[in-house]
Amino acid sequence: MSTRPPRGCDGAIDGCGPTGNGDPVCTKDRAILFFIFCSGKSWYKVRHGCPEARAARFFSHITRFEESTMQKNVYVAREVFAEVLDFLAPHFTVQANQEDCVLSPEELARVLADKDGAMTTLTERIDEPLLGRCPRLKAVCNIAVGYNNIDLAACSSHGVMATNTPGVLDDTTADFAWTLILATARRLNEAEAYVRDGRWDKWKLKQFLGLDVHHATLGIIGLGRIGQAVARRAAGFEMEVIYHDVQRAAPAVEAACRAAYVPKEELYRRADIVTIHIPYSRETHHAVGGPEISLMKRSAILIHAARGGVVDDAALVEALRSGAIAGAGLDVFEGEPAIHPGFKELANVILSPHIASSSERTRFNMAMKAAENLVAALTTGNPPNLLNPAG
Ligand code: GLV
Repeated sequence: MSTRPPRGCDGAIDGCGPTGNGDPVCTKDRAILFFIFCSGKSWYKVRHGCPEARAARFFSHITRFEESTMQKNVYVAREVFAEVLDFLAPHFTVQANQEDCVLSPEELARVLADKDGAMTTLTERIDEPLLGRCPRLKAVCNIAVGYNNIDLAACSSHGVMATNTPGVLDDTTADFAWTLILATARRLNEAEAYVRDGRWDKWKLKQFLGLDVHHATLGIIGLGRIGQAVARRAAGFEMEVIYHDVQRAAPAVEAACRAAYVPKEELYRRADIVTIHIPYSRETHHAVGGPEISLMKRSAILIHAARGGVVDDAALVEALRSGAIAGAGLDVFEGEPAIHPGFKELANVILSPHIASSSERTRFNMAMKAAENLVAALTTGNPPNLLNPAG
């Protein structure tokens, strides 16, 4: 195995050819193997004096055996923890982008052209044009629970298994949603900048008046695993929890979350804090836009740590600018890492760079889970978190 990072950002490595592992002796090894293979073929023909057809049949078995046991090539598309590469090493020839460049679609297609599997993140788009250029690819294992960067239908039609990392990041993401809830409600960003800039000259009764979180009404859009973890934390603040989802949760889930199902419009009208926990897809594009935000109270805040594109950022900038809502706490953005320039001009919004799952332990677990999926996919064909089961 080699974890040598690609040279430059085109995924190319030095030392040997496209399937190489960066070890300069690999070309020599191959030459030796090829020599042994050819000699064996001649030896068999000489020894048995068999006709060409028999020899061809015999060696086709050898070739098939070679293919099935041949070391598989995988690509790790973004920087991961060293332990994750160590875990992959006994199974595959690993090429890893430890320099952490974000590859262009062209660069990604080139580097995956000779790979059997890949570990990807939300910065790598896996779609039809790419898959058409990667005939060997059998598995794409995302280091994320969200997988809107992967076209599942295209993967299925190319026989590529796609996986994600559910379960390991729910609590960490919920903790961060709560970080945004408390910081936004209590205007922590404005207050911190005020102290840091040396503008604090006296205590004032009406300084940075915020929104009480305790006993407020929390409106959760999407009561999946993360939405539920957010809801459970609300008990400590003695909040009323209401939620909306495309499908109503089971009674046991509602009870554990102390959450009441309400129609969407009612949620926006009643909640003091609206927090979003739905995945991004064609169906959820701008699910929270001008019409929804206009239903919210002027004193309410909006929290978004799900996926860029679920919220119409332009509509939100307008609502924050006009005072239609009091504030927002945002970890994800349309077109990130670029963000709508309007956000930066506003004091009533807290901005963070898509870090909701970013605790040391959780990011490690996410990467390790993706690696486990990759090993299972390419060795058993049955990864634990398969998103597109065949037929
Ligand atoms: C992070 O955003 C994830 O989807 O895991």
